[in-house]
Amino acid sequence: MSDILVAEGVGKKFGGFVALKEVSVRFARDKLAAIIGPNGAGKSTFFNVISGAFPASSGRVSFEGHDITGLPPHEYARRGIAKSFQITNVFPQLSAHENVRVAAQMQKTRYNLWTPRAAIRELIEEADQLLERVGIAGKRHAVARDLAHGEQRCLEIAMALACKPRLLLLDEPTAGMSPEETVKMMDLIVWLAAERTVILVEHKMKLVMGICQQLVVLHHGELLAQGTPDDIRANDEVRRVYLGQGKH
Ligand SMILES: Nc1ncnc2c1ncn2[C@@H]1O[C@H](COP(=O)(O)OP(=O)(O)OP(=O)(O)O)[C@@H](O)[C@H]1O
Ligand SMILES: [Mg+2]
Repeated sequence: MSDILVAEGVGKKFGGFVALKEVSVRFARDKLAAIIGPNGAGKSTFFNVISGAFPASSGRVSFEGHDITGLPPHEYARRGIAKSFQITNVFPQLSAHENVRVAAQMQKTRYNLWTPRAAIRELIEEADQLLERVGIAGKRHAVARDLAHGEQRCLEIAMALACKPRLLLLDEPTAGMSPEETVKMMDLIVWLAAERTVILVEHKMKLVMGICQQLVVLHHGELLAQGTPDDIRANDEVRRVYLGQGKH
């Protein structure tokens, strides 16, 4: 089975406002995909529906061939879908290492006060490896609220990875980052995508053109186009509504 996540006719209404209109997309396994589009296109709304944060108003979402529409968020995590934690999910007063350890502990359902020392040592090592992977091992003992913005986003990703996801979802991972932090984050994403499926939302189209295998373009809540970066570059409609703005 080559598709990991399939959205069929996914719609979302906020009161009377239609934010998404019957969006159908198939995301291929082990590929790096990006959902792009101008401000207010419905990217985050679509992201929130496929990651289980919002219920869809219509349509279905399936993961690895199973219908996951309407399942509670913890079921998404249990089945292997992780999304970048929002900053509010990071415990600001705990160290970077403690935050990742807590995320890793939550994954292990049988963890309790009587967990043997060996298992605790394993959690500590796992947290250290994850911090190393996202490039902030040097900040192991730093309290999360004292980390730079880019480092906090890396910490969120380390926490998401602690759930050992087969699908990692990231909404604007470079938002608010400096150019240096952005380059580092994009490198990290390419690296992460070598081992699992990654779907990200990105406003800055140029950032994803060179690294993604699949692009999904939303506009006014509708699917405008999907395909490879070359397909999207050659698509006149995309050019008109998106590239034509000249600032991306
Ligand atoms: N909770 C909500 N209640 C009402 N309207 C909403 C809500 N969330 C989003 N919208 C509206 O739905 C539309 C799509 O918003 P969404 O956040 O999905 O866009 P986006 O493509 O992620 O934009 P951006 O690039 O600015 O992040 C917008 O018009 C927005 O105002
Ligand atoms: Mg958004």
